Amino acid sequence: MSLYLDAVFKKPVGRTPVWIMRQAGRYLPEYRKIREKYDFLTLCKTPEAATEVTLQPIRRYGFDAAILFSDILVVPEAMGMELIFHENSGPRLSPVIHKEQDLEQLSIKHVPDRLCYVAETIKLLRKELNADRTLIGFSGSPFTLATYMVEGKPTKNFKHIKKMLYSDSRLLDKLLDILTQAIIRYLKLQIEAGAEALQIFDTWGGILPPHYFEKYSAYYMQTIIKELSPFKIPITLFTRGGENLMPALLACQPQMIGVDWTIDMSRAKQQMGNRVALQGNLDPAILYGSREVIGREVDRILAVFGKESGHVFNLGHGIFPDIPPENVSFLVDRVREQSVKLKE
Ligand code: CP3
Repeated sequence: MSLYLDAVFKKPVGRTPVWIMRQAGRYLPEYRKIREKYDFLTLCKTPEAATEVTLQPIRRYGFDAAILFSDILVVPEAMGMELIFHENSGPRLSPVIHKEQDLEQLSIKHVPDRLCYVAETIKLLRKELNADRTLIGFSGSPFTLATYMVEGKPTKNFKHIKKMLYSDSRLLDKLLDILTQAIIRYLKLQIEAGAEALQIFDTWGGILPPHYFEKYSAYYMQTIIKELSPFKIPITLFTRGGENLMPALLACQPQMIGVDWTIDMSRAKQQMGNRVALQGNLDPAILYGSREVIGREVDRILAVFGKESGHVFNLGHGIFPDIPPENVSFLVDRVREQSVKLKE
């Protein structure tokens, strides 16, 4: 067993496990070096290189979990859309889904074979990783992926997806159904290849009013979790914002819920801690702060759990690309030292 899995299943732990979202990425000089040779998508699709960048932060910091190096948007690509990552402005998916006929380009038939490079990467990683490090696979949530497929690019106001929801909700239902089926196939492929835990990134579910969140995001995540339950692989739901969303997230029956920094960890524990493990939730921007500030904020989160298990330390969202790598070292050391003291 690993510390990460022990914490997820609330078995006693000698210290709190730690990993960080986007731990493999541009803040690491060794990642930027590999990116000189490969564009981002080629890196995701080259199993040896994807394995190498997955392992970089494990070697440097000794994180307790490795997360597969890939992107949530490879699923819409495998369903038939064109995916391009622009160096400065991020991903583009085309042609966008705005009307019924636009669904015709999508198919779930080729999802597993078009994503076989992910299975290859996972198999390589399982060979390379020590047994005490957990390999986390992942997918976007149906609603989060739908957002990118309908908007075509990152957005601030979510105009097109909300327009679809409020003017043609049957079309959105259909899109979310297809996505749910694609994601189930994709996550089964990851489990069969050797993923030991899964995380569903529901980055944008929180833009919905809570009663719509239940119907358009949580419902589909619940379907995925139910379908995968025979595999007995722990699943984390990560979402942004919204204390309001807690009941709907719990109803999905994940093993762990990843919370962002807008929710006070002690409140999250009070409301959800007896039902699920919790992951999070340091504001990623705190890593710009002094050691004093980072240390104080880390201690504050760890104190919420004290001696108890059921917590995986993480940021409340992905690390920013310009965080000094030595601040991450300081963070990881602090989590280790402080949590050992608390668990004694
Ligand atoms: O966490 C990890 O280290 C694993 C790899 C991972 C990436 N993306 C690598 C990546 C994971 C789990 C993701 C998930 C992802 N991708 C999400 C959900 C989580 C979240 O952050 O909310 C979303 C919304 C995406 C879509 C995406 N990918 C965007 C909007 C962008 C552009 C913004 C940016 O940071 O550049 C990406 C690119 C991306 N995905 C990078 C990495 C390392 C940067 C690519 C580069 O090297 O230039």
